[in-house]
Amino acid sequence: MIVFITGANRGLGLSLCEIFLERGHHVLAGVRNRNRAERLQPLITKYKEKLSIIPVDVSSEDSILQAYSLIASVTPKLDAIINNAAREGIRCKKIREVDIADFEETWKTNVLGPMAIIKHLKPMMESSPVKSILNISSEAGSISEIPLKNYGYSISKAALNMFTRMLERELKPENFKVLAVHPGWMKTEMGGEDAPYDPGEIARHLYERLTESSGKEHDFNIVDHLGNRMAL
Ligand SMILES: NC(=O)c1ccc[n+]([C@@H]2O[C@H](COP(=O)([O-])OP(=O)(O)OC[C@H]3O[C@@H](n4cnc5c(N)ncnc54)[C@H](OP(=O)(O)O)[C@@H]3O)[C@@H](O)[C@H]2O)c1
Repeated sequence: MIVFITGANRGLGLSLCEIFLERGHHVLAGVRNRNRAERLQPLITKYKEKLSIIPVDVSSEDSILQAYSLIASVTPKLDAIINNAAREGIRCKKIREVDIADFEETWKTNVLGPMAIIKHLKPMMESSPVKSILNISSEAGSISEIPLKNYGYSISKAALNMFTRMLERELKPENFKVLAVHPGWMKTEMGGEDAPYDPGEIARHLYERLTESSGKEHDFNIVDHLGNRMAL
């Protein structure tokens, strides 16, 4: 399988790269800044031709188009895409605290990024028998649970869930699998040290979610790392 993973230089993205490489797949690791990719170096050394670094800033459509050209020079087809890159932005629980410019960055990264990636890269997936898209979301995006945590991040993840649901409906006739997953609270730069889960453990579960046959018909499209239905 050939999988493109964004935000691959640290956190969950790095662990996802490792698990796919361990299991013999080819990974296209999307990295915003090569100077921050030192944690990928051991994987580059170990897996050499199975790992390709793809510079991409997901908040920029131009950067995504450049990444598309590079990916197309490496492979004619893609089997799976994991939209993992995201930013939390400035935490604000009160409307008067909201920083609109910061929210714009969060919106571009967490919503427009995944949309532009699928828009431009989906044609490369059409000949694949796998055709899997995993959008890494969050329980923070649940509208029914009303998380009073962070306006920008929660709104962006709610929108990502809606995008996932619409995309799943559109692409179902073409046999695409499209899923949003809440990975759980993880020990990463975003999650902090107090989080209960290790991103390596979560990545193993997400590998299962991406590769399991869609026997369970999801009419909801957001699940936790174990595949349990979550509230939208
Ligand atoms: N950690 C948690 O507890 C938790 C809980 C629920 C959901 N999630 C979700 O899980 C996913 C991974 O989170 P994480 O904890 O691994 O986060 P993280 O440690 O903060 O890592 C975020 C990754 O996204 C990349 N990124 C951010 N903005 C980007 C951009 N514009 N273009 C390209 N890459 C960009 C970062 O690259 P740089 O190094 O260049 O900044 C980094 O690789 C995210 O979608 C997050 O929302 C996390």
